[in-house]
Amino acid sequence: MNFKDKVVVITGGTGALGSAVTSAFLQAGAKVFVTYRSEQEFDALKASVNAHAALTGIKTNVLDEASVKAMVQQAARFGRIEMLVNLVGGYLGGVPVTEMSVEQWDKMIDLNLKSAFLCCKHVLPVMMQQNVGRIINVGSIGGLQGGEGTSAYGASKAGLINFTQSLAAEGKHYTITANAVIPGTIDTPANRQAMPQANFDEWVKPEALAQVILFLSSEEAQAITGATIPVLGKL
Ligand SMILES: NC(=O)c1ccc[n+]([C@@H]2O[C@H](COP(=O)([O-])OP(=O)(O)OC[C@H]3O[C@@H](n4cnc5c(N)ncnc54)[C@H](OP(=O)(O)O)[C@@H]3O)[C@@H](O)[C@H]2O)c1
Repeated sequence: MNFKDKVVVITGGTGALGSAVTSAFLQAGAKVFVTYRSEQEFDALKASVNAHAALTGIKTNVLDEASVKAMVQQAARFGRIEMLVNLVGGYLGGVPVTEMSVEQWDKMIDLNLKSAFLCCKHVLPVMMQQNVGRIINVGSIGGLQGGEGTSAYGASKAGLINFTQSLAAEGKHYTITANAVIPGTIDTPANRQAMPQANFDEWVKPEALAQVILFLSSEEAQAITGATIPVLGKL
């Protein structure tokens, strides 16, 4: 897989999965454009990759269309955007439908679905013009099967999977593929803290997920589009 000088936009690139994905793309030779909200988190990411020259960050609120538009304009100054990896997302569990506030519902739909919609809406014209592109969204097993207390999260991730299929259908006219990876629980510091009794060995490692995302971003993955790919770790 050759990513030399290819440009990837990674939203949420400072997060737990984002850091591993950013690092994998840098190692593979790509120019990596990361959105962040907190300067501190971007500084930590930069330090973790030894201030790699191919890493650029831009403060972006991916829930705000004007902010996303400005981010894409800046990234497009590289001349091309070959890949978009939508990693912004969040979880809400333990809230039955009868107790869920409209704010909680909207937050899940916004973080997990609207974020990807806005970034795709503004990156797609760049990809269409260059007649090639890769979009990778991050779903969840919660988006394949609804569960107790997770209705808003599950519905938002289910929506993201369906949205990815629409992206694939529209992208096929422009050699643009769109796929969704479906992680189980990811082995992140936040999950270890939240579930200290769990067997961490059974969780998927961020580095393993990053390799799957890298493959789906490659030229070699041209034949895969509209797919929903479980990456569950050891089950
Ligand atoms: N962790 C899991 O077990 C798991 C399982 C299945 C699927 N997933 C999915 O995998 C993805 C990554 O998860 P993760 O655990 O790495 O999450 P994370 O560590 O919380 O990272 C999320 C990232 O998104 C950023 N972000 C949040 N709201 C934003 C906004 N409005 N504008 C711009 N950036 C924003 C966060 O920035 P700040 O730090 O500044 O808030 C952070 O960098 C998510 O889509 C998640 O739903 C995770």
